[in-house]
Amino acid sequence: MSEQYAYLRGGFLPLNDATISVRTHAFLYGTAVFEGIKAYWLPEAGRMGVFRMAEHYKRLLQSAHILGLQPTLTAEQMGDLTVDLIKRNQCQGATYIRPIIYKSDLRIGPILTVDGTQDDFCLFTVPMDGYLDVEKGIHVGVSSWRRLDDNAIPARAKVNGAYVNTALAKTDGHKSGFADMIVLTNQGHVAEGSAMNLFLVRDGQLVTSAITENILEGITRSTIAELAEKELGIKTISRPIDRTELYIADEAFFVGTATEVAPIVKIEHRTVGDGNVGSITQKLKDLYSKATHGLLPKYGDWITQV
Ligand SMILES: Cc1ncc(COP(=O)(O)O)c(C=O)c1O
Repeated sequence: MSEQYAYLRGGFLPLNDATISVRTHAFLYGTAVFEGIKAYWLPEAGRMGVFRMAEHYKRLLQSAHILGLQPTLTAEQMGDLTVDLIKRNQCQGATYIRPIIYKSDLRIGPILTVDGTQDDFCLFTVPMDGYLDVEKGIHVGVSSWRRLDDNAIPARAKVNGAYVNTALAKTDGHKSGFADMIVLTNQGHVAEGSAMNLFLVRDGQLVTSAITENILEGITRSTIAELAEKELGIKTISRPIDRTELYIADEAFFVGTATEVAPIVKIEHRTVGDGNVGSITQKLKDLYSKATHGLLPKYGDWITQV
């Protein structure tokens, strides 16, 4: 692999030199917001393409706004740096891109914005093929950890410190032998997966948790809803989901930038449907893969070519 670079403190540095002080506020208090963006090799164009980059940078700025962080760059500038970094790192296959807006000052005290606080932007890339091993479908559990509430740490913002909640759910699930976990709200409704949104198929319709159920408003979630409606004529209903609906769904799958489309074939001790990857799930998985690789020309504007 060629020498890898990251963007930090206003410039590109060799990855190994892109380090921050132990006193950095974001390290002390988790006061940062981030995105997970994916770029793919586009076989027909013979170059890399970043999937739904504008939507990711829009959400990053919204997350920063919720926390009161002061971004130093616009969405367009962050997008240009992303394209530049992919070129510098000579990425040639599926690549995960991690931009972060973080509190960079060396101040003790958990306050977000007062005079003199500083925020900065950093960016790096990592090769990433599959986040979960999904070919035969995955076996997931329902976590005993509850999703953070909008009035505690808002799930709608992708806050670095909030991923302790994700890590608790995912780690305990992993130790119990599950591929990943479904997390409930404090009211006991289905929120989402540890770091992905969830869809169920019930009677030929797609159902996904409403955005008021302490979920991240996922970009893959809206991509899948659009593909389902336009390509398969299947509508998505966004509403609160009870836990027991998980057990009687015909099909279930996770979606997310890293996860892509991950069919769920078993939830705790119950199979989903007949225990095989569902046909609607498989169609959406194939459509999503084509869309991300630039093979659905109709959706070409979802891709920023590098
Ligand atoms: C908590 C959480 N929910 C959902 C998602 C899926 O969001 P997206 O499709 O925008 O990647 C993610 C992934 O980033 C996540 O961390």
